[in-house]
Amino acid sequence: MASFVLNGEPVTVDVEGDAPLLWVIRETLGLTGTKFGCGVAACGACTVHVDGVATPTCVLPVEAVEGAEITTIEGIGRAGRLHRLQQAWIDEQVPQCGYCQSGMIMAAAALLDENPEPSDADIDAAITNICRCGTYSRIRRAIHRAARA
Ligand code: FES
Ligand code: FES
Repeated sequence: MASFVLNGEPVTVDVEGDAPLLWVIRETLGLTGTKFGCGVAACGACTVHVDGVATPTCVLPVEAVEGAEITTIEGIGRAGRLHRLQQAWIDEQVPQCGYCQSGMIMAAAALLDENPEPSDADIDAAITNICRCGTYSRIRRAIHRAARA
């Protein structure tokens, strides 16, 4: 069993302690916005917030987040009440295939929580997520737009 807070709601799941958090979120709890990419904590597609810190979940055992506050892309905004980054992503038409974008937004949200007005260099240093479609310049523009919002 594992217990944590997911998007503001306490949850308890009947899974092995070494199950990766990503699969507990996707398969056990049905929140599929968080994606599987590399599986080796290198690409960032599986990024969520663990106690406010952007964290890859593909190799993170669920037992490591016992009692933690987990926020996924489903938890930072919703239709009619988008997170300022989600609105900026729409305004700047950031995604191409979209696969990496949940992780990108979660990484960007953690960055803005720490650094409300990041420079391009700050963004490049903090967000190491990989986008195979090469949307990096639009991501930077969207983060700057969200920072001004
Ligand atoms: S799938 Fe987790 S970092 Fe790539
Ligand atoms: S938008 Fe396609 S991988 Fe980033």
